[in-house]
Amino acid sequence: MSDLVQQLREQLRHTLDATPWETIGGKRLERYDGKVRDCYIDREKGERIIVVTDRLSAFDAVVGSIPSKGQVLNQLATFWFEKTQHIAPNHMLRVPDPNVMIARECDPLPVELVMRSYLTGVTSTSIWKAYEKGARTFCGHALPEGMTKNQKLPAPILTPSTKAQKGDHDVSVSRAELLAMGRIDPALFDRAAEIASKLFSEGQRHAAAHGLILADTKYEMGIAKDGPNKGEITVIDEIHTPDSSRYWYAEDYEERLARGEEPRSLDKEYVRCWLANEAQWNGDGPPPVMPDDIKIEAARRYIASFEQVTGTPFVPDTREPLARIAAALGAA
Ligand SMILES: Nc1ncnc2c1ncn2[C@@H]1O[C@H](COP(=O)(O)OP(=O)(O)O)[C@@H](O)[C@H]1O
Ligand SMILES: [Mg+2]
Repeated sequence: MSDLVQQLREQLRHTLDATPWETIGGKRLERYDGKVRDCYIDREKGERIIVVTDRLSAFDAVVGSIPSKGQVLNQLATFWFEKTQHIAPNHMLRVPDPNVMIARECDPLPVELVMRSYLTGVTSTSIWKAYEKGARTFCGHALPEGMTKNQKLPAPILTPSTKAQKGDHDVSVSRAELLAMGRIDPALFDRAAEIASKLFSEGQRHAAAHGLILADTKYEMGIAKDGPNKGEITVIDEIHTPDSSRYWYAEDYEERLARGEEPRSLDKEYVRCWLANEAQWNGDGPPPVMPDDIKIEAARRYIASFEQVTGTPFVPDTREPLARIAAALGAA
């Protein structure tokens, strides 16, 4: 067994599953638990303390915890926020712990900006499943005849997705459908779309320089309520992480495509495929229990994505996460 696998196996029992705090810095804060992040909101300061846990969500449900996942996600988001700040302002203020980002609280736009360059996906709402069933337009974009799974689209497309309430599934819509819902101002949406497109091409450019394909990704944006970019569109949540993106190895992509094989991926597609194919679960009913080996392989891929994207080794913080983060935040 390699050192890394051994160490991940040990970390399986020390994952950051949930945070129990009632106060941070002596203050009682509003709290929002997402599927992956526990958020503590300091309205006075206009700050959101985001604790990135090791929880993994797939098919809109939490299916278990993966060692080091929270740290990988937070440190990759940090990397990309720094790298893309010339394109648009983002919410990052401070990173007081490998698993924590203190962010500027924003008013989220009611839409997720999904950018795609490849015809892929496994969920029933994915562009590939729609194409397979015969659709030749997706979110208002015409798709050529005769394409195969995982093939590159003629050009990157934006496929907005409306944010569902907790527990519901998001819905992909065209620009026209979205605007007809009357939930967002057209000029605001178009500005957000332009930012998404620029971020995606920067992400793809950097990924390519590091031997990867950034096949698709999802951005969340909001309006800053305060600070130097008050009133401006600001990138929030996470960016270009393996949870919000598909990353494939570029090296053998063509070869595998020609043979009809799936690309080698560095994202959570691995877990989605295990859930769908081995466990025969696609989001309905209680999720199956993930075996340790599947969790370890998922962790290896998350870590590999960090190393490949940043070109630097991943250094896991193996201290007991709850005590460590509580100390860093003054949480109790
Ligand atoms: N800067 C911010 N301002 C306001 N909301 C934010 C900000 N950053 C992230 N969020 C929200 O915090 C939550 C993060 O938790 P997450 O686990 O990603 O949730 P979800 O289950 O909705 O994906 C999301 O609801 C996201 O929209
Ligand atoms: Mg999220």
